[in-house]
Amino acid sequence: MPRNRALLLAFLLAGCGAPDAGLTASWTGAWPSDWRYQPPPAPALGRYAMVVSDHPAASAVGVRVLRQGGDAIDAAVAVAFALAVVHPQAGNIGGGGFLVYRAADGRSYALDFRETAPAAARPDMYVGAAGPFGGSVTGARAAGVPGSVAGLAEMHRRFGRVPWRDLVAPAVALADSGVVVDAHRARAYNDTVMRRLRLFPTSVAALLPGGRRPQAGDTLRQRDLGRTLAAIADSGPDVFYRGRVAGQIVAQMRASGGLVSLADLAGYHARWREPLETTYRGWRVVGMPPPSSGGVTLAEILNILEASGPLPPYGSVALMHLEIEAMRRGFTDRNVALGDPDFVAMPLARLTSKAYAAALLRGVDLNRASPSAAVPVRDEGQHTTHFSVVDAEGNAAAVTTTLNDDFGSALVVGGAGFLLNDEMDDFTTRPGAPNLYGLVQGEANAIAPGKRMLSAMAPTIVLDPAGRLALVTGSPGGPRIISAVAQVVSNLIDQRMTLGEAIAAPRIHHQAQPDAVFWERGGLTGDQRRVLAAMGYRFRGRPIFIGDVNTVLVTPRGLEGVADPRRGGGAAGW
Ligand code: DON
Repeated sequence: MPRNRALLLAFLLAGCGAPDAGLTASWTGAWPSDWRYQPPPAPALGRYAMVVSDHPAASAVGVRVLRQGGDAIDAAVAVAFALAVVHPQAGNIGGGGFLVYRAADGRSYALDFRETAPAAARPDMYVGAAGPFGGSVTGARAAGVPGSVAGLAEMHRRFGRVPWRDLVAPAVALADSGVVVDAHRARAYNDTVMRRLRLFPTSVAALLPGGRRPQAGDTLRQRDLGRTLAAIADSGPDVFYRGRVAGQIVAQMRASGGLVSLADLAGYHARWREPLETTYRGWRVVGMPPPSSGGVTLAEILNILEASGPLPPYGSVALMHLEIEAMRRGFTDRNVALGDPDFVAMPLARLTSKAYAAALLRGVDLNRASPSAAVPVRDEGQHTTHFSVVDAEGNAAAVTTTLNDDFGSALVVGGAGFLLNDEMDDFTTRPGAPNLYGLVQGEANAIAPGKRMLSAMAPTIVLDPAGRLALVTGSPGGPRIISAVAQVVSNLIDQRMTLGEAIAAPRIHHQAQPDAVFWERGGLTGDQRRVLAAMGYRFRGRPIFIGDVNTVLVTPRGLEGVADPRRGGGAAGW
């Protein structure tokens, strides 16, 4: 080969000096003309590090920690505490969540800081519960034992470098000085949220100054929350689980008929779990194992897509049909078989095997929808939040954390200034009946003292076929989390979209029950819906948001970060 051609070839193979993860974007398709997220967002770029979260101020806190020598876990801890202040509908210290972490040395970890059922909880405790206070959604009885503070402390203990106090401090400052409510946050205070928050004087005092609905431009100061965070900064998680804050939580439980006791709080532990690893067309997908269904159900959906060979183009009815049938089958198994691994045995190897996916695919009629039973379902809340972090060494953290529904249980702990979760609703609260997200779940997810409720959160890290970090992602959205993440992964790997395109692209969702396709306003054309209807699909009446996928992509040019335009987050690179 002539020398100049050899040089040219070497140059092309080397890209710009960095390894090419193989995700060269080349998608040339189109979205429906009235789709609202076009042009797709341009990524933030980072030479060394990147944080993508649901609030620009929280991402800024994370990048500051990274610039000052913190690692991905330090940044994740600081971002999580900051989100508890600036994004109170989902960021939290009164909820729980999951971390998927991939260290630069190639090892992966999963931390489970999901809430647990209080010791006094019983399988039938919500059966026949009437009114807003006795149920699994609003008020003290809806709350599981919070896991977030323990989880953040545990990830910091194992992998953090920056002193704990310095990571909580930015959140204390934000709570004390106040944050300006932006348009996205203001929209969260809808009529239902206002009605629920107004049930509790402690919630009005903390979140609705003057009893008014917060408006964009208002400044929200959270002095009680600032004091609680300052105590956590000074004394670590013990003050929350055994000290003053524990006392405040239990006093609120007594006043409001809740079940969480001092012993429940003192006994709470975050748990390291084996990450759920699977592959998609040679790429390695590192996901969250039970008690989240995120990893298992994502694996099942992706395996079915892989078994079907090269995918039809994005936007084709043939692709939607395959995706919906894959989702239907993944969710059917989820709802029946999955639960807390400390309480139930689960056939995880079988559910996530390629052979099982191939068998499921054989049951798909390429021309017709498969039936599953119908139940009602509510809108997606805004009350989970996902953020992705990559640091200068290549350590990567995917964190999803939640209060469950709209401002959790809507109950703020008196004097402590933070919302309690309503995560108990993620259990099978009434056998055969749908939960908040329309999921009809089984015995494996029945309530038991100390048990963790099944989740759909899917913090996910994808490695390229050579095992190099490629993607850090995840989403809120209840069951729609899994569908949103699956579509973003497939948009990148199968459809060769840019990161902005992959995230902005219209999404669909199916969860077996109700037997209906969920879609986004403007995301499907009338023609697409007519063809799908002729195949036997029914649509959920009103279009909805499907997910909010805050993602970091490793490219030959450096790190790209895109905050999903659906929710007003922010990506910050360094
Ligand atoms: O753990 C779960 O699956 C649910 N509690 C998540 C709820 C959720 O994502 C609400 N978000 N928008």
